[in-house]
Parts: sequence; structure tokens; C-alpha cells
Amino acid sequence: MAEVTQSASVAAAALAAGQLVALPTETVYGLGASIDHAKAVERVFQVKNRPNEHPLIVHVEADADLSHWATRVPATATALVEAFWPGPLTLVIPKSDNVPGSVTGGQNTVALRSPDSPHFLEVLAELSRLTGAPAAIAAPSANLFGQVSPTTAEHVQDGLGSRLDPSDIILDGGPSEVGIESTIVLCRDQDVEVLRPGGITEEDLAQIATVTPSVHESVTSSDAQPRVSGSLESHYSPAAQVIVLEPEESIDDLAASQEVDLESLGIIALESETVKLGGATELARPNNSEAYAAQLYAALRKADDLGLRTVVAVTPPNVGIGVAIRDRLKRAAS
Ligand code: TXA
Ligand code: MG
Repeated sequence: MAEVTQSASVAAAALAAGQLVALPTETVYGLGASIDHAKAVERVFQVKNRPNEHPLIVHVEADADLSHWATRVPATATALVEAFWPGPLTLVIPKSDNVPGSVTGGQNTVALRSPDSPHFLEVLAELSRLTGAPAAIAAPSANLFGQVSPTTAEHVQDGLGSRLDPSDIILDGGPSEVGIESTIVLCRDQDVEVLRPGGITEEDLAQIATVTPSVHESVTSSDAQPRVSGSLESHYSPAAQVIVLEPEESIDDLAASQEVDLESLGIIALESETVKLGGATELARPNNSEAYAAQLYAALRKADDLGLRTVVAVTPPNVGIGVAIRDRLKRAAS
């Protein structure tokens, strides 16, 4: 069991001492370790049950000197940092020797992000003061591998509490506002490639850099070496079976055709969708796509808490953050 606190300095001191700290971000909560503590980084993988070759995102201050962490900083990366940091955008660039290979799963690139969370940014600043060096916190989402990411400190406690040490910390910064993970982009000199859709939309990115359609989509096939673990086909999965519907598909038809037991069915759909199903549980009825993202993971957890067998999620329109929501729903469903 870890200590829950709201104090950034308590959290920073624990990281400096080589403990694990679950940290709030605007996307989801992360399970953090200072990259200077090899044992702590190793424990992140153990606590999550995460295979060692799945690289971790390294979180840095918004004004970090990227050339400390990278051998070469493509112009696209500099421009995206300027536009979107701190924020839900992770940049993959060639790593320098200041990033241990254990953090990057042995790859020669590093994924860097500066989260838009006052708590997290305070921890980074304090950690840097304590150590007298640039702060870097490796932090995957604070859930067991393959399960739904946490968007509150309570979710972290429920999922990982029993696997953490008494001197580990959970920093409670309230619910995550964006609700789904950051956008991950591979940065090249002339263009960028989206490896995982997320909080920063393709429309946002296109204002700043040339976005080339991803050639890495094949990493979702199970025999390929996964470069982006969030791109495994089955991920973000609750225990309940998730069925994804396009907006034009009718829940009523589905219920009729599959003989779904309404008593054990939960529904996630935009408020604008007409859903009339007596007996089913409304898990979330957000009024726009941003609210859908913010509520999605808590709704999937609620389904499991209630012991529901099936969740029907009607996708939002495939634009903006809707693209990332559909991506997560599809993975939760497989
Ligand atoms: O919003 C987020 O990104 C959250 C918060 C905590 O920052 N973090 C997160 O971490 O979602 P995680 O570990 O659940 O997902 C990180 C993804 C993984 O799919 C990993 O494979 C990918 O980032 N990744 C990390 N380093 C990479 C690299 N060098 N090249 C390609 N993908 C990388
Ligand atoms: Mg994750």
C-alpha cells in the first residue's frame, strides 16, 4: 500500500530516493520513476506486469533542453514543443546516452512529453532542484498491462495499491481532464507520423507540421514486434465485453439480434444519440467528444464495478479527439 498525498514535494523526495510515485497528468495517471534509478525503473515494469521491451514515455519540464535527451532534435520536434508543451503530445526522437536503454526497451529512440498538470510540473521542478540536474520521470499509465488506464488517484489505488510499497506515493491531483492518453508522434526532419492518436488531434498537428499517414499500423498485428504497446490490438480492456457501434447503427437492433440481457448491459453514447433501452445502465452520456474522452475510462471501470457483462459504446464522429476515442474503443473491444 502506498501513501496518498497532495504534496508535490513529498512526491519529488520519494522519486529522488528511488521510490515509485503515481502522478496525475491531464491525460491519465502515470506510474513514475526517476530515470536515474535503475531499480525503480525495473520496478515500474514489475508492478505493471509489463514486458521489458515495451518502452516508457519520459516526462520532462516544458522548457527542457531536448538536446540533453536526444542526439538530434528534428525541426518538427522543436516546432511541436513550442506549440503544444506542456500538453498531451509525446515526441519520439533519437535518444542520447543520458537516457538508459532500460527505459526505451532497448530502442535508440526516446519518447518525450511534458504533461500539462500543475502537480506533475511542480514535481519535475522540485526533483530538478533536489538533484541539481535536469529532471526526467519515466511513467507509463498506472494500470496493469493491458487494462484500462486510471483517470483518478482512486483508480490507481484500486488497480495497483496492493502491488506498491508503503514508501511509494500516490499523488492525488484530482480527475484527469483529457481522459485518454497522449498523442505519440515520430518526428523526422520534414514530417511527423502519428503512432498513437490522442489528446492533440491530427488537425492540431497539421497546423504546425506535415503529417504523413502512419506506416506503423501493422504493429497492431500480434506477430509484429510492438513498438507502441498502446497499439496492441487488445488493450485498454475492461472485463466486460465491449461492443462498438457506429452512430448510424441502432442499439435496439443490436439488442434484438444478439439477445443481449438488458439487465447486464451498460451504454456509453453521446447525449445526442437516441437510446431507448429499458433496464440497461447508462454508464456515460457526454454532451460532446471532449467530455466523452474525459468520461470513457471511468465508465468502463464502472461497468466492471457493477458486474455488467456487456458495454455498448456508440462512437462519436471520427474527427478531432473522436479519432482517438474510436481507436481506444476498438482496442477495448478486441
Ligand atoms: O498520456 C500518456 O501518454 C500517459 C501519461 C502517463 O503520460 N502515458 C502512457 O504511457 O500512456 P504508456 O506506457 O501506457 O504508453 C506509452 C506508449 C507505449 O505504447 C510505448 O510503446 C510508446 O509509448 N513508446 C514509448 N517509447 C517509445 C519509443 N521510443 N518509440 C515508440 N513508441 C514508444
Ligand atoms: Mg498504458
